[in-house]
Amino acid sequence: MKFFVDTADIADIKELAETGLLDGVTTNPSLIAKSGRDFMEVTKEICGIVDGPVSAEVVALDHETMMKEAETLRKIADNVCIKVPLTIDGLKTCKKLTNDGTMVNVTLCFSANQALLAAKAGATFISPFVGRHDDNGFDGMALIEDIVTIYSNYGFETEVLVASIRNPVHVLQSALIGADVATMPPAVIKGLFKHILTDKGIEGFLADWAKTGQTIPTA
Ligand code: E4P
Repeated sequence: MKFFVDTADIADIKELAETGLLDGVTTNPSLIAKSGRDFMEVTKEICGIVDGPVSAEVVALDHETMMKEAETLRKIADNVCIKVPLTIDGLKTCKKLTNDGTMVNVTLCFSANQALLAAKAGATFISPFVGRHDDNGFDGMALIEDIVTIYSNYGFETEVLVASIRNPVHVLQSALIGADVATMPPAVIKGLFKHILTDKGIEGFLADWAKTGQTIPTA
């Protein structure tokens, strides 16, 4: 499963990229606003840190203007992935861009039928929002299962990118279902490394090691 980070915070992206475990980045207009940075500038900087896809979202609602915005965004770097909303105009834009070989992430997906449409439009990624689904009394993970089943039934190549992840259990469930990508806030990715027994184990081993009075030569 690929790991994307869902942020426009450069310090967090750099820190996670250094682990060698980061496969891409997703942003959205809210995350750009939170960063306080210029959209074009920060997107270019992110594209230079991570080799994988960096999603940058259009803000127009009509197909024609979406295409113009996408034209500007795709010039930023080769690894820009144009993010479009799951609307008729968004999917028209998706179809046109992917026909031209541009990566497209279709965002704000809340039903399996929407995901089916996005796959038919040739989306590179579909982003079902599990956290927001759960928040509204639906079962976010059931949605992921349905999409994975439908894509496998028809051999669609669109990757299922689980978005709006809130906790490590969402990540675990996504992996068990076989989703292709999880995009997570930095804190959730960092939380995946942690286990109380790992910390306790290190503490115990180091206490015993100190008793030996030995060191491992490092030069
Ligand atoms: C995905 O691409 C979105 O940016 C994101 O996952 C939204 O998550 P939220 O529901 O926490 O805002």
